[in-house]
Amino acid sequence: MVAPTTNQDDMHGEVYFPSAETIAQANVPNYLALREEALADPVAYWDKRAKELLDWIEPYDQVLDDSNAPFYKWFTGGKTNLVHNALDRHQNTAVRNKQAMIWVGENGDVRTFSYRQLWQEVNRFANVLKGLGVKKGDTVTIYMGRVPELPMAMLATLKLGAVHSVVYGGFSSTALASRIEDAQSKVLITCDGAWLRGKVIKLKDIADEALSSEAGKVVENVVVYQRTQHEVNWIEGRDHWYHDLSDGVSKVCDTEVMDSEDPQFILYTSGTTGRPKGVLHTCGGYQVYTATTLKYVFDVKPEDVYWCAADPGWITGHSYIVYAPLLLGATNFIYEGAPNFPDPGIWWRLIEEWGINILYTAPTAIRGLMRFGDEHPNASDLSSLRLLGSVGEPINPEAWKWYYNVIGGERCPIMDTWWQTETGGFMITPTPVVPLKPGSGTLPFTGISADVVRPDGTSCDANEDGYLVVKTPWPGMARTVWGDPDRFVDVYWSTFADQGWYFTGDSAKRDEDGYFWIIGRMDDVIKVSGYRLGTAEVEAALGSYPDVAESAVIGVPDELRGNVIHAYCILNQGLEGSDELAAILKKHVRHEVGPIAMPSKITFVDSLPKTRSGKIMRRLLKAEAMGKPLGDTSTLAN
Ligand code: PRX
Repeated sequence: MVAPTTNQDDMHGEVYFPSAETIAQANVPNYLALREEALADPVAYWDKRAKELLDWIEPYDQVLDDSNAPFYKWFTGGKTNLVHNALDRHQNTAVRNKQAMIWVGENGDVRTFSYRQLWQEVNRFANVLKGLGVKKGDTVTIYMGRVPELPMAMLATLKLGAVHSVVYGGFSSTALASRIEDAQSKVLITCDGAWLRGKVIKLKDIADEALSSEAGKVVENVVVYQRTQHEVNWIEGRDHWYHDLSDGVSKVCDTEVMDSEDPQFILYTSGTTGRPKGVLHTCGGYQVYTATTLKYVFDVKPEDVYWCAADPGWITGHSYIVYAPLLLGATNFIYEGAPNFPDPGIWWRLIEEWGINILYTAPTAIRGLMRFGDEHPNASDLSSLRLLGSVGEPINPEAWKWYYNVIGGERCPIMDTWWQTETGGFMITPTPVVPLKPGSGTLPFTGISADVVRPDGTSCDANEDGYLVVKTPWPGMARTVWGDPDRFVDVYWSTFADQGWYFTGDSAKRDEDGYFWIIGRMDDVIKVSGYRLGTAEVEAALGSYPDVAESAVIGVPDELRGNVIHAYCILNQGLEGSDELAAILKKHVRHEVGPIAMPSKITFVDSLPKTRSGKIMRRLLKAEAMGKPLGDTSTLAN
């Protein structure tokens, strides 16, 4: 194993050292020393963080219970509720009158909420849900655009001790239906529509379509928040306008007392095989982990305006828009629209207008904005920015440098945070005091023992590609796959079962300084514009079209989007491929899974490369598509 060094004179490659001013201002200036301390005794370390950052309704009696690994339990015996720490406790302090949320609509609408106002809105929303019978342990599915009522709905659900499953507003009716069914939600919260680049995405229509399937037998009530005000279909008794239900409802609501290990939310994500799996996070450890990581990494100060430009419907939005900023009493900025509408200068104008100090986004957005040239950022005053962040896929050094030089004015460190839906929060990441290398997530966070290993579990040498694993548990880790504990063990814990390590699904390497470089997914997961898709989902969508006998999809590197999808289809006997059919199939996948899943290229073939046991060798398709050597073909049957 390579011992990390951050000693200025000894480091290799291109290194950006933090300024003395950045170090002096950092929330945790002794971070590197703290990493050593935390690794030596992670349990004591997390115990300290849990006490320092949160208020426990009743104290826990054990920090970590590892008696039933890999079903780890954290802070057992403790009583808590995330909303108690995110909103309720702030009502008794000066934070009460501080801005919790500044929201700007795509059409320029502005809505702001102090911690007091947000608390009242969440209470009201919780009372509405209670009125529909929602109680502790129930699941609520949320399918909304990026409006303040989305975080409010999430917080209201948790306040009642219910479990939310947020389905990103860009997903199709089929995807929504399968998630509703899997979670068995009796209540669905949606919007009439969402604004996207001046157009209305008709969410209620999509929800209606989802509910015309088996999922319709599960859902009893649909709450509709009005955003776009167009005509919608209505089923009396099932559908309710939020403004009707909330009219005159009390703005006070008790917070349900939860056990640390009670379920808190489910978030569906793509894996190697089959349907997306519902990753479960629980009430205690998730709070400790997200609050600690946000405080240390993004160095949030009381006066900061913090902007995480993700969608609340993804884990980045859950952890670092909706939850951790409120746990820390920070001011959150949320923008409804796309980065390039009405023009590619909008983000930079928002930063100037609102005095944003921290911007956290994805490489795909950075590359997309970089394309339009420096004149757009240069037209705005970006001097309020102090820190930048990146997430979702590896950031190429060219984009990193543009972000650093043009957006950050060579002044703002970039936090390249590697993590996953399953990890709950940042795992490999710098903090402002860590020397940076463009394209590297630098070092594992405090208390995280990550390594790059060979299939036999031995650590790789410097610059040798291997499996990225996490060797010990951490508070933010996923607890199970909803309704399918065997799948949890199989997917994450079986590759290194003997050692008891968590396998991330990623390949990586460590350099001579112990810095981590993420290479990409080793499984059949494709990252398109930072969004996670399984080959199985896209292949199932293609296969559901009557003319398609079999298909295989691969991710092919793309300058802008990280990867794009190429699909290979075998048609039913006697049918011929054509450009028209390719266009129809693209549209079909778009309808079945969502716009992000749409293949950029479809090739009609007579056969697919398979192993003797019948497994499709996507590796060969990929090598061929990229014009690379095919490598080992000894297992190829045809
Ligand atoms: O492959 C890694 C990539 O995104 C995967 C996790 O995807 P998801 O669960 O959707 O969560 C994304 C947001 C946390 C990882 O297995 N990934 C995420 N962040 C980075 C990254 N790859 C390289 N660098 C990153 N900073």
